[in-house]
Amino acid sequence: MALTQSEEVTATSDELSKIHCAAGNTLNKCLENHLLKEAVSFHTPGHKGRLRWTVSEDICRYDLTELPGLDDLSQPRDVLARLENRIAKTWDAEDSIISVNGASNAILAALLAVAPRGDRIFVPRNSHRSVISGLVLGGFKPIWYDPRWQEDWGLWADVEPVQFAQAVEDEIAKNGAAGIAGAVLVSPTYTGDVTDVRALAQICHEHSFPLIVDEAHGAHFLTSQTRRLSGLASGADLIVHSFHKNLDAFTQCGAVHISHDGARNFGFSASELRAALSTTQSSSPSYLLLRSIDEMLSSLETGETIDQLSAGHSLGRHLKQELAGISNTFCYESQFASSPFHILFRKEGLTSEELFSSLSDHGVFAEGCFGDAILLMLGVGTIPADLHTLIALCRDIEPKASSVRALKQRHAKPAPLQQVISPRQAVLGKKRRVLKKDALGAVAAECVSSCPPGWPSIVPGQKVSEEVANCEEFEFLRVVDSEF
Ligand SMILES: Cc1ncc(COP(=O)(O)O)c(C=O)c1O
Repeated sequence: MALTQSEEVTATSDELSKIHCAAGNTLNKCLENHLLKEAVSFHTPGHKGRLRWTVSEDICRYDLTELPGLDDLSQPRDVLARLENRIAKTWDAEDSIISVNGASNAILAALLAVAPRGDRIFVPRNSHRSVISGLVLGGFKPIWYDPRWQEDWGLWADVEPVQFAQAVEDEIAKNGAAGIAGAVLVSPTYTGDVTDVRALAQICHEHSFPLIVDEAHGAHFLTSQTRRLSGLASGADLIVHSFHKNLDAFTQCGAVHISHDGARNFGFSASELRAALSTTQSSSPSYLLLRSIDEMLSSLETGETIDQLSAGHSLGRHLKQELAGISNTFCYESQFASSPFHILFRKEGLTSEELFSSLSDHGVFAEGCFGDAILLMLGVGTIPADLHTLIALCRDIEPKASSVRALKQRHAKPAPLQQVISPRQAVLGKKRRVLKKDALGAVAAECVSSCPPGWPSIVPGQKVSEEVANCEEFEFLRVVDSEF
């Protein structure tokens, strides 16, 4: 449950003047410096530092371990089993398995759970890098498919069902249907684009393979207006959530859900997902994280968070309208549907870095820069005053003469990815490290991906094309030490 505005503590201007994360500072000092500077958060986590239950309690007392009465997350039988049942009830899943290593670990578990079904898997180009790790762990051969490319904004958006159906038909015509383990979909995307999950689930099921939805950014689809957008309400089989992006659990909390369809049609079970999750999750899950999930759930169960979510949707709509009304300011619009909590906007005459710092200089921190735009992330902790501060600032920000560059530039769609060997072969094989200038034509043996957006620029096993070799994200690259 979030604090009200009057309960908040803000930094004095004297304190603000000291802000500087000098070399040699401890992390703690850097965190404190940041907190002095930050007045408004438009980044994750969704609680925005306004968790009421943490204020009056000495929360380090709750940093405990598997003591009598506290259950064991790797084999929950008591209170943690009830916690998972409450999660399943809230999202209407057959079973839900908690991850205290975020959606990242839950994605690995989902991929490992489908691995016995086959060694080929449909993966979108905007997969989070944890999917790439899942390809390595599961030994999959990825069948890459393209979501819609938004050339005005330079981003991967939703997946058009017709395009996906075509990718499936092409693959089956080429290599047959046997050995297809499943498909992965990201919905909503990092920038809030939602796909018609129902249509994709139908295509997968027509060909008898399951659909995994990376819904890390959609755990908040719980209101009457948004539930229909969720994978669990749309026939997907395994659905992965982060509980910290827009909801108010601590960072690193998440879950993998088995839908009723997934259990019935593909026989997924909690024990198999848990075993998969345990291969990469700590055997000492933090009870602080687990407690924060408990608090998040209690507030969902009383209806308080649902009210906050509904209010948050109105805030998101209001923010978009206000931003779009400011001169030279443009908000991204999704094609199929969008998450009300993800707002991407740009201002002509400012690079995204300039826009980001014009806001952060006044204590307003966005989630990050994204091409020419910046991404704002709302959460259950967002309050109207946050929006007022941001909107007032955006009205005052002047374009910079130095950066009057062509914002209407088109961003070319990334070229098809040439997967020469499987990610696992590339990562586990013999490799060498080369300078950027020597990478062209080699086969990558590692994933290169900057966060945000967390999708890969280079995938292990991919031939390094000229386009990829020119990307700014690496200076050195580990490549496979043989000719292809
Ligand atoms: C699309 C997507 N999937 C998965 C993840 C991983 O989520 P987590 O941070 O909970 O591990 C992220 C993180 O930003 C993401 O953007």
